[in-house]
Amino acid sequence: MSVLVTGGAGYIGSHTVRLLRRRGRDVVVLDTLELGHRRAVGDVPLVVGDVADDALVGDTIERYAVDAVVHFAAYKAAGESFEDPGRYFANNVAGTARLLESVHRAGVTRLVLSSTCAVYGTPQHTPVGEDAPIRPESPYGESKALVERMLHWYDTCRGLRSVSLRYFNAAGAAMDGSIGEDWTVTLNLVPLAMKALLGKRPPLQVFGADYPTADGTAVRDYIHVDDLADAHLRALDHLAGGGATTAINVGTGTGSSVRQVLDAAERAAGRPVPAEEAPRRAGDPIALWADNTRARGVLGWVPRHDLDDIVRSAWAWHSATA
Ligand SMILES: NC(=O)c1ccc[n+]([C@@H]2O[C@H](COP(=O)([O-])OP(=O)(O)OC[C@H]3O[C@@H](n4cnc5c(N)ncnc54)[C@H](O)[C@@H]3O)[C@@H](O)[C@H]2O)c1
Repeated sequence: MSVLVTGGAGYIGSHTVRLLRRRGRDVVVLDTLELGHRRAVGDVPLVVGDVADDALVGDTIERYAVDAVVHFAAYKAAGESFEDPGRYFANNVAGTARLLESVHRAGVTRLVLSSTCAVYGTPQHTPVGEDAPIRPESPYGESKALVERMLHWYDTCRGLRSVSLRYFNAAGAAMDGSIGEDWTVTLNLVPLAMKALLGKRPPLQVFGADYPTADGTAVRDYIHVDDLADAHLRALDHLAGGGATTAINVGTGTGSSVRQVLDAAERAAGRPVPAEEAPRRAGDPIALWADNTRARGVLGWVPRHDLDDIVRSAWAWHSATA
């Protein structure tokens, strides 16, 4: 039996595919390659196509004897989703609706979803737990909240059990430097800091240096991509063991400020990140990190990598591939 990984040629998907293979699981990747890379999947079978293609998904499930799905395929840039919400709802919501029907018709009953802490918007309390109100503040966050609701109904009506993993800020690269994030398509802080360090972009803009935090910059929960990958394997095991549909935060439970990330980058590279202060951005929460009690309890998951591991691995990857 195989695991179907949609979006498996992308950043987090490719790290998860690698870990699945290392743990002896058979895998098939379905990816349009719009934002992913063929080389990132290695020798794993790759089907190039869209999750909304019912016939292709049905054939792939049958051909590879798929019994579980990990669904990464989506667009993920919150800022971009304001410029073109229709693109986000079409791919992330309508595309997933088609996928769920195909998965159900093919008799698969287990699915792990890439969800996001963006479903919480700006929470009233941090660390934020899974029972906090779902109040997304972008079309992107809304698209994931809608998919989580669809999954609730697919469990109730179709017996498709799922785990929605609400990632915090995915960052870092494989510790052996073999795969990592594509900085040509991401707007995340760590790759942008690496790009600035390597002189491939103007100085990094630090949006907001006057927040009521210890050093004035915004605080987020940075989670190493291999720790995230491990959470997916554990979520699959939870479902295979008969576990119930649930949503689970995947974050370290610790916040790091933008300034702390830049300091870690300086430690990794041996020189400071060219950076300049810029005004706060509308809609950016001041501080956001995870209550990860449920991940520890339900999945037995513990993050193994700290901020220095994240930034060192990103530096190794970006400086080798720049
Ligand atoms: N990177 C983060 O910090 C972060 C945080 C929270 C949630 N997420 C979620 O995790 C998932 C993966 O994120 P990532 O950082 O690896 O992104 P990514 O863009 O690197 O990977 C997404 C992959 O999905 C593919 N894809 C997109 N639409 C598709 C479709 N309709 N059919 C088939 N393939 C399609 C793309 O080609 C790409 O390879 C996304 O769902 C994203 O919303 C990411």
